[in-house]
Amino acid sequence: MTGIYDDPWAYELACSFRDVPAEVEVLLDWCKRHRVGAALPRTVLELAAGPAEHAREFARRGLTATALDLHPAMCAYADRTAAEAGLSLDVVQEDMTSFALGRRFDLVVTMLDSTSHLMTLDAFTAHLDRAAEHLTADGLYVLEMSHPRDRLGDDPSVSTGWTVERGTGIDAVHAAVRWGEPTDRLDPVTQIADDHVTMSITEGGATRVIRDVVPYRFWSATELIAAIRLSGALEVVAQYGDFAEVTLTDPAAWRMITVLRRASGGPAAE
Ligand SMILES: C[S@@+](CC[C@H](N)C(=O)[O-])C[C@H]1O[C@@H](n2cnc3c(N)ncnc32)[C@H](O)[C@@H]1O
Repeated sequence: MTGIYDDPWAYELACSFRDVPAEVEVLLDWCKRHRVGAALPRTVLELAAGPAEHAREFARRGLTATALDLHPAMCAYADRTAAEAGLSLDVVQEDMTSFALGRRFDLVVTMLDSTSHLMTLDAFTAHLDRAAEHLTADGLYVLEMSHPRDRLGDDPSVSTGWTVERGTGIDAVHAAVRWGEPTDRLDPVTQIADDHVTMSITEGGATRVIRDVVPYRFWSATELIAAIRLSGALEVVAQYGDFAEVTLTDPAAWRMITVLRRASGGPAAE
């Protein structure tokens, strides 16, 4: 059976509700706001990058970009689409809890709640340690997660079902996505849910359906802060509820985005 990460083209289509260039613009603005000397980054590493849309956008803007993912199909797709667009992108197939690339980056990002694939506290803190180890002295790590309201509240901030359209006429592609069903409940002890994901993709009059069950580990806001302290390698610079000026506690917040830097008491970067 094909899973959602076995077909990166379909995954990228399903996630095309995002405005990736606009998100990259905000990431660069946060670098100006939070880095010493308002320095724009020259090197960027995207972790659990999947199709590496953000890394490719950074490369398009002239940054030296690296994309890391565990899944071979995602890595191959990121590599191929970057090459087809004439972009220079370094793609590495590694685990975000154990990678050691031997170089540091001005900006490290993990987008779209990819840390929900980290099922244990040990895995999460190992991930934070690895991210810190790959930051330059004044580098930033931006970690985008779902807003906790989506799993804890009665009023989720995002819909679990959406559609996307691309192209027109005979090139038109339509995707109907369901990411989670009402019966996909968090286990109250493990904080893990088995999310049932369905993507129905229609092109050229034919529809194919990709179904998958994706284990999702919910990380609460307080647990995130506790994990950061337990790691000790990073400290929080700011938190946002959107790729805008929305605070985490604002009713309009729909993401939990944390900007981190190397902890002042941590090991010095070369
Ligand atoms: C929800 S997708 C997000 C992809 C990308 N961040 C985006 O914004 O579209 C999660 C990605 O995490 C990757 N992944 C899961 N566990 C991983 C791990 N331990 N190390 C690296 N990548 C991992 C999957 O292969 C998948 O591409």
